[in-house]
Amino acid sequence: MTSTIERGMATAEVRRHSDPPRTPARRRPSLMRTSNGRKAVMAVSGAVLVLFLIGHMLGNLKIFLGAESFNSYAEWLRTVGEPAVPGRTILTLTEIVLVAAVVLHMWSAVSLARRAAKARPVKYAARRRSQAGGYVVHTMRYGGVIILLFVVWHLLDLTFGTVNPKGFDASPYDRIVAGFDPSRWWVTAFYILALVMVGLHLRHGLWSAFQTLGLTRGRARGVLSAVAAAGSAVLILGFVSVPIAVMIGAVK
Ligand code: HEM
Repeated sequence: MTSTIERGMATAEVRRHSDPPRTPARRRPSLMRTSNGRKAVMAVSGAVLVLFLIGHMLGNLKIFLGAESFNSYAEWLRTVGEPAVPGRTILTLTEIVLVAAVVLHMWSAVSLARRAAKARPVKYAARRRSQAGGYVVHTMRYGGVIILLFVVWHLLDLTFGTVNPKGFDASPYDRIVAGFDPSRWWVTAFYILALVMVGLHLRHGLWSAFQTLGLTRGRARGVLSAVAAAGSAVLILGFVSVPIAVMIGAVK
């Protein structure tokens, strides 16, 4: 057992003879317990999700090449790796990695936010307009919740067909055309809101990663800020183009 003595502002730990010897593990916490370790988990899981989003957006653009092209791409996703491995093996592995990345990303975000709150129990007296200010925290936190709700709806809509007018048996192309029918404008509106959140989330995530890597000093700051904004904008415009094209009848 250890006890502490306090003198003025200082607190010192007093060890007794009966105390068990300190193990090395107590002195050096595992990497996952450190804030830097958790930031690394956040960055790696975020990078996995960004790679998925880039691939998904490019795949979605195949809809502009016609129903056959889009449906054969969707079929390829299920059969890739055959006959070396049974059908859906690669897709299932990708799904497992995606779920793990989402869980780790959320875990590291929540645990880092809790630590930051503990380290500063008294709120800032003045509202700061910097990246660490309320606007960004709200965008990341509530944006993350909207994105999560969106993914649940999105899977029920376009993967399982549960909430899609054409249901599960229709082709992926037909599900998209039915899902974004102008009569279901509210679905498209929700997709656009969620995609804007994805864009803001990504922009801040990229910027934070650049900062953590120490790249945002000097002149690189402006360039990297533009890279984060432009990269997110291109991704979101690519995604948004699909429901908009269905809404205006360019894809039918
Ligand atoms: C307008 C934008 C989007 C469209 C049109 C779209 C379309 C689709 C379609 C058609 C599928 C089903 C593929 C199939 O089963 O053959 C799908 C699956 C999926 N989408 Fe999207 N998507 C969009 C945006 C997003 C975004 C922003 C995210 C993530 C934040 C996302 C995450 C997923 C996931 C996780 C799956 C399941 C992948 C799997 O089968 O394992 N999608 N999407």
